[in-house]
Amino acid sequence: MTLYASRIIGTGSAFPETRRTNEDLSRMVDTTNEWILERTGIQERRIARKGDPTEFNSSLGHRAALRALEMAGKTPDDIDAIIYATCSPDTLVPSTACWLQQKLGARRAWATDINAACSGFVYASTIADKFLRSGAHQTILVVGAEVLNTFVDWQDRTSCILFGDGAGAAVFERTEADNPRRILSTHLQSDGSLWDVFHTPAGGSALEVTHDVIERRDHKMKMKGKEIFKIAVKTLADFAVRALEANNMTLKDLDWVVPHQANLRIIEAVAKRLDLPMSKMIVNIERYGNTSAATVPTALDEAVRDGRIQPGQTVLCDVFGAGLTYGSMLLRW
Ligand code: ACO
Repeated sequence: MTLYASRIIGTGSAFPETRRTNEDLSRMVDTTNEWILERTGIQERRIARKGDPTEFNSSLGHRAALRALEMAGKTPDDIDAIIYATCSPDTLVPSTACWLQQKLGARRAWATDINAACSGFVYASTIADKFLRSGAHQTILVVGAEVLNTFVDWQDRTSCILFGDGAGAAVFERTEADNPRRILSTHLQSDGSLWDVFHTPAGGSALEVTHDVIERRDHKMKMKGKEIFKIAVKTLADFAVRALEANNMTLKDLDWVVPHQANLRIIEAVAKRLDLPMSKMIVNIERYGNTSAATVPTALDEAVRDGRIQPGQTVLCDVFGAGLTYGSMLLRW
């Protein structure tokens, strides 16, 4: 018999100050505001200042975490674990989670990064949920944060228009298994055979960053946009259905969907496929672009703070990312 469940009791987000508009991009690569807006729905994104310690990944994560802790009424001492979803860490070692732990002064916690690219927040939340359901922990801080601008190829107009930097956080707490306000289910899946639709060839142990590599721009992200688009629409729709079926629910039971914000046209296509009105989709891509692991927690935070998401409502977080990775988290707020 399961004694425990978990629920989110606080959310927070943080973004770098600098805005990069489509007009700015049109001065960097051969593109236009109209093209970007029509194909992606993105108007601007935030870009962390290079070398500024106040805008490192862990610093954005820190600001988001402080807001989430404040909403939760918790202090850093309450945190049992920090699970940090990112594919753009401050450093390969130590983990960005450990950098954040130091900034927070969360001395009791263990801290680790996980990399599921854009699906990272749902993967990290799933791990948190399992630790809380098992009774092992009481309070877990989950962060999804990225400073992607270091890895984006700012000479490649087909991909650089999409991405931005930012951080979102959520405080998860253990609760009774029969609390209606809880995480209802999580579903994860990966398909490593599709690695080549989105990858960064160099910078890991497989390929060192040498002068040749830099000349070939193999230290930057490579993307097959059209292929990802099709896969994303199908899997986001499939994972929504999978989550609802596991809970004996239908699409009518959903109050909100917080989808990964990769492209507004993907979100619209998923809504159409599921026959859901766009008014149920929580969207912030127009202001921030694709912030990878940060898209879901920042959009969730916005909708909680502006009162769209109300206690007792059913919310689906639905994601896909490089790997490829997929997942969903259904919760009652
Ligand atoms: N400005 C102007 N023209 C452009 C630009 C640009 N920025 N980029 C491409 N084009 C051109 C192309 O060269 C092409 O020209 P051609 O017809 O002369 O060959 C034309 O526009 C159409 O290009 P497509 O690639 O067909 O454009 P599409 O409508 O597919 O949009 C996009 C491209 C925006 C990348 C889209 O495919 C997409 O969003 N895919 C999903 C990307 C994604 O989700 N990435 C992240 C996933 S994983 C993760 O989140 C970590």
